[in-house]
Amino acid sequence: MKNKTWSGRFAKAINEDVLDFSQSLTIDIVLYDADIMVTEAHVEMLGRCSHLKATEVKKIKAGLKKIKKLAHSGELPWSIELEDVHMNIEHALISEIGEIGKKIHLGRSRNDLVATDTRVYLRELIDVMLQHIRELQKTCASLAVKYNDCIFPGYTHLQPAQPVTFGHHLLAWQSMIARDEIRLMNTRSMINVLPLGSAAMSGTTFKLDRNYVAKKLNFSTVSKNSMDAVSDRDYILDFSYTDSMIMMHLSRISEEIILWLNPQFNLIDIDESFCTGSSIMPQKKNPDVPELVRGKTGSVFGNLFGLLTLMKGLPLTYNRDLQEDKGLIFESVDTTITCVDIMNKLIKTIKLNKDRSLDLASSSFTTATDLAEYLSKKGIAFRDSHHIVGNIVKYCESNKKTLENLSLKEFQKFSKLIDDDIYNIITLTNSVKSRINEGSTSPKNVLKAAKKVLDSLKNKK
Ligand code: ARG
Repeated sequence: MKNKTWSGRFAKAINEDVLDFSQSLTIDIVLYDADIMVTEAHVEMLGRCSHLKATEVKKIKAGLKKIKKLAHSGELPWSIELEDVHMNIEHALISEIGEIGKKIHLGRSRNDLVATDTRVYLRELIDVMLQHIRELQKTCASLAVKYNDCIFPGYTHLQPAQPVTFGHHLLAWQSMIARDEIRLMNTRSMINVLPLGSAAMSGTTFKLDRNYVAKKLNFSTVSKNSMDAVSDRDYILDFSYTDSMIMMHLSRISEEIILWLNPQFNLIDIDESFCTGSSIMPQKKNPDVPELVRGKTGSVFGNLFGLLTLMKGLPLTYNRDLQEDKGLIFESVDTTITCVDIMNKLIKTIKLNKDRSLDLASSSFTTATDLAEYLSKKGIAFRDSHHIVGNIVKYCESNKKTLENLSLKEFQKFSKLIDDDIYNIITLTNSVKSRINEGSTSPKNVLKAAKKVLDSLKNKK
């Protein structure tokens, strides 16, 4: 079959293999709602600018409505011979209402149309993702309220470092995700620019009201250069990068959950329904969900690199290479939304094993820094306090003692400034309680910060 839309200058029909190779319908079919919405706004505008009669506009709009219904119910016949979603919709409209349908392409090209449809579609998905990202923050903050004063082992180099509150750790997750929310909103504003009206690349000789279309489609502004507008995919890259950051954060969170679930750590439990067993080892309870999230991060990173590579050699303006953008970004967005959602559901079920957590937090001299700071409050330079406490730890290790069970006499061998108030200073509870600067781990801070997060999320729709 000859492609009627552009076959005027061709004597031969397109080669079957080329048709298969070059069609994008199998991927861009998801744009049909956006395509119909954009076409409707375009047609309304053409009517207002007197390029179409009011009766024609009415007829086209009724036709589009019918096509939308058919598409939704799965009754619209799609054909890869028509190459992409845009030509399929146009073809369906012409079959539905006849010759008038051919007028929708006046003053536009598939180059500005595909960019517009993609923006409309991604803008909707970014709003869905924003909802999920806010839910995830809410989950972390709610758990932080619950566990605001529960002692938890804090690590650096994955070695025991200092005690923290579990709530503080959960708010660290929330802080990462809060930055992702900002990145999503920034990306949204990059997406929210209308390219339609740029036509193939230089604009069109028809006088258009681009601002009307922008308003109708909720775009905040119109593109400023037609050549850039049809070849710009920065907004897709921004979205892809934001997805990568979200997945990187989820992957780090997954890694921690996997570690904490290991019976040798045994710090948390999650609902059994989020775990799987082994087909050979009857005792196993495996954390497959966080493992899969960590694994899927790879393809989202890969898509970002694929997109960057896709763009790097392209001269202005539209090139067919650009058709390859959608498969990559759609996969990234889909994976990211699914992973944020499943992680939110999983994190909700986290239960802290408080006894074990206390045990691990107190092992390995984790309040040694408190002791050093105690000495410095008594006038010793911190570098010297650090050295003194280092010697105390060495002494404890060789005598199989902990800081708590050193006698005052033993302490005073290292510094006369140590008094019996030291036993209070080096308790885990006191250690976390006394870290009260903004952003530190004290239960009071955690509770206040978590409530602030929950409050601010309440005001977002
Ligand atoms: N399917 C094409 C794409 O996604 C639509 C634009 C085609 N434009 C063109 N000049 N062939 O990029």
